[in-house]
Amino acid sequence: MAHRLTVIGTGYLGATHAACMADLGFEVLGLDVDEEKVARLSAGDLPFYEPGLEPLLRRGLASGRLRFTSSYAEAAEFGDVHFLCVGTPQKAGEYAADLSYVNGAVDALAPLLRRPCLLVGKSTVPVGTAERLAGTLARLAPAGGDAVLAWNPEFLREGFAVQDTLHPDRIVAGLPAEQGAAEHAEKVLREVYATMLAAGVPFITADYPTSELVKVSANAFLATKISFINAMAEVCEAAHADVTKLSEALSYDDRIGGRFLGPGLGFGGGCLPKDIRAFMARAGELGADQALTFLREVDEINIRRRIRMVDLARQQLGGSFIGRTVGVLGAAFKPDSDDVRDSPALDVAASIRAQGGKVTVYDPQAMRNARRAQPSLDFADSTLSAVRGAHVVLLLTEWKVFREMDPGDLAEVVAERSILDGRNALDPELWRAAGWNYRALGRP
Ligand code: UDX
Repeated sequence: MAHRLTVIGTGYLGATHAACMADLGFEVLGLDVDEEKVARLSAGDLPFYEPGLEPLLRRGLASGRLRFTSSYAEAAEFGDVHFLCVGTPQKAGEYAADLSYVNGAVDALAPLLRRPCLLVGKSTVPVGTAERLAGTLARLAPAGGDAVLAWNPEFLREGFAVQDTLHPDRIVAGLPAEQGAAEHAEKVLREVYATMLAAGVPFITADYPTSELVKVSANAFLATKISFINAMAEVCEAAHADVTKLSEALSYDDRIGGRFLGPGLGFGGGCLPKDIRAFMARAGELGADQALTFLREVDEINIRRRIRMVDLARQQLGGSFIGRTVGVLGAAFKPDSDDVRDSPALDVAASIRAQGGKVTVYDPQAMRNARRAQPSLDFADSTLSAVRGAHVVLLLTEWKVFREMDPGDLAEVVAERSILDGRNALDPELWRAAGWNYRALGRP
C-alpha cells in the first residue's frame, strides 16, 4: 500500500489506531516519548487492558508492518501520513484542556518534515487548535506548503476500541481552507480509510473548527443524556418511582433511543468529564459561555450521584461509617476497562474511606491502576474476599462477573445482607428473595 503511517502518542487511542492500521495492511510506526511504553509495545505487551487489542498488536509486530520508536527524526523520515494521537487531559485546578502534549508533539515533529506529508490530528482539542497548529506547521516545516494539516476526530470507546476503530459510525475530515491543500488532504484520507469507506461508512468533510466541534459536541450530548436520566432518577427517588422502568419506556421512542439512558452512578473516565469542562472553558473564551451553561448542570447532576451513593451507604449503616466494613465491587470507570481516571466507583470508595469506613475494593482488571490512584484503600483479589465481613456491599462498576453473582454465595461471607446497586445491574427480586436488603439509585 502506498502510504506509510506514523502514530504519535501510543495511549488508548494511538496504540489502537496503530495496530488497526497495520492490520489493514499499512506500514505503521508508532511513536511515544515514554521509552518504557515503546519497549513494552515493541515486545507485544499492551500497557493497558483493551479486549482484542493485544492479538492485533502481536500480529502487526510479527508481520513486520508495525514498529515503535521514541525518535521524532525516525518518524519524520518514515511517514507520509502522521496521526497525532496524544492526550489532552484537564489542566490541574482548571476546566480548560492541557494542550502541552499536542503542542509539544507538533513542535518536535514540524521542523523535521522535509518532504510532502499529511499531519492528521485525532486528539480531542478545543475549537481553534487546528487553525493554530496549521500556523505552527507553516512556520516550522521545511516542506512548507507541502506539509498539510487535517483534523480527523476519533470517537472510539474504551472496551470497544478495536471495533470502533475498524468499524466507525462516521469519518469526519476537517480540511484546510486553501482548495489545493484541502483536495490533497481529502484524497489521502480517503485512501487511508478506503476499507471503511468501501463498507459504506459516511465520510463528512468540514472546515477545521466544525470538525473539532463534532467531537466535543458528541461527548456533550452523550454526557447530557446520562445526566438527564440521572436527574430523572433523583425525581424518581423523591416520588417513589422506578427510573429503570421509566428509562425502558422512554427508550422505545425512536427519537430518544435507549443507549446512554442507563441510570446509575453516572459517567467518568478520561473523556466525558474533562471534555465537557474543556468545552465550557473554550466557549467562555469565545464569548459563547451562555450557550453551554447547561453543561455545568450536567456535570453537577453527575457528581451528585456519587454523593447520593455515599449518603445511601451511610444511611444503610445507621448513620456512620466509623468501625464499619464496606465491600466495594468495581474500580474501573466502566466495565471492560482498567481505566480509573475520574472513576465514579473509586471516588465513592475513597469518600467512604475518608469518612472512617473500612473499605475493601475488588475489580477484575483495574486493581493495579486503582492501587496507584488510591493507596489508602484496601484491595482484595476476588469478589468474595472483597465482601467478607462487609456490613454493606456496593456494586459500583457493572462488570459481567458482578451482574451474574449468586446472592447465596455472597450471603455466606458478609456480616450483613445489605447491597447497594450503583449501576442498576442486578435483579432486585432475585436478591430480595435470597434475604438481601437491596437498594438502588433511582428505585423505590
Ligand atoms: C466516550 C465516548 O463514548 C467516545 O465516543 C469518546 O471517543 C470518548 O468518550 P468512553 O469514555 O470510553 O467513551 O466511555 P463510554 O462508553 O462512553 O462511557 C462513559 C461513561 O458513561 C462511563 O462511566 C459509563 O459508565 C457511563 N454511562 C454510559 C452511564 O452512566 N450510563 C449509560 O447509559 C452509558
